[in-house]
Amino acid sequence: MNDYEAYGVIVMQQVEKMDRMYRYQRHFYDFTRKYYLFGRDRLLQEMDVQENECVLEVACGTARNLFKLARMQPHAQLFGFDASNEMLKTAHAQIASKPELRHIQLKRELAENLSYATTFGLSKPFDKILCSYALSMIPEWRRAFDVALRNLKPGGGFYIVDFWDQRDLPAAFRALLVRWLSMFGVRFRPELMDYIRTLTAEGQGELKIESVGWRYSYIARFTKSIGAKAYESGVWSLKSEIRSTKSETNSNLEIQNSKHPNPLV
Ligand SMILES: C[S@@+](CC[C@H](N)C(=O)[O-])C[C@H]1O[C@@H](n2cnc3c(N)ncnc32)[C@H](O)[C@@H]1O
Repeated sequence: MNDYEAYGVIVMQQVEKMDRMYRYQRHFYDFTRKYYLFGRDRLLQEMDVQENECVLEVACGTARNLFKLARMQPHAQLFGFDASNEMLKTAHAQIASKPELRHIQLKRELAENLSYATTFGLSKPFDKILCSYALSMIPEWRRAFDVALRNLKPGGGFYIVDFWDQRDLPAAFRALLVRWLSMFGVRFRPELMDYIRTLTAEGQGELKIESVGWRYSYIARFTKSIGAKAYESGVWSLKSEIRSTKSETNSNLEIQNSKHPNPLV
């Protein structure tokens, strides 16, 4: 199997896995998640979306966040994508029944493959990008992060809310939560925050992190620097990315197996 075929298999596995996971859950997803996906509304407020801004949600699921943004700022241009056709069915049903949501554009896409040009037919990158409780379940999180940055304009904000280390909460609660999340393939990624910190140290952008609920989750805002060059390469080159994924997978394993020296913040 060559690199392209191998990548095709990985893509199909992720799509099938997400569709299997959400086929039935999508019917009660929004109702249940409001009790444990904390910080989403605070993040939307902090984004402070302006008229005519072009905003993307990576892995938008049922598009609950985009619907809220549309009500907060009716004159923004809103886009979202997700790996799961099942989640998007719920999103499309909402859009079809509510005229004020009709301008939202949704696509089935993988975070690793996003391109503002080919996915959405746009001529320029997004002003702001949002990713809510998704990087903790995307195995290729680093590629998803890099690809999002490539699709963000210089000076634009990448806003993330996701599970943190629950360090300030009781240990028994933390242990239960970690076990429960792992059943959905979700886990806190200290290496992601280290990676963003490295980018910040290299001058690629500025990072601001806030805790939600005693480090239950975090809100991160990464503002891409005006001169960030490494992430301007446009449409993703499949072959080189496959090569870098292979070496990333190895280095991720090293991080996971070692005792991480740097708990977040
Ligand atoms: C926990 S849900 C969060 C949905 C939404 N962002 C929210 O806040 O309600 C995670 C979403 O990530 C999507 N997802 C997982 N891996 C993905 C990938 N590689 N590319 C795009 N979406 C992905 C899933 O299909 C799912 O809809």
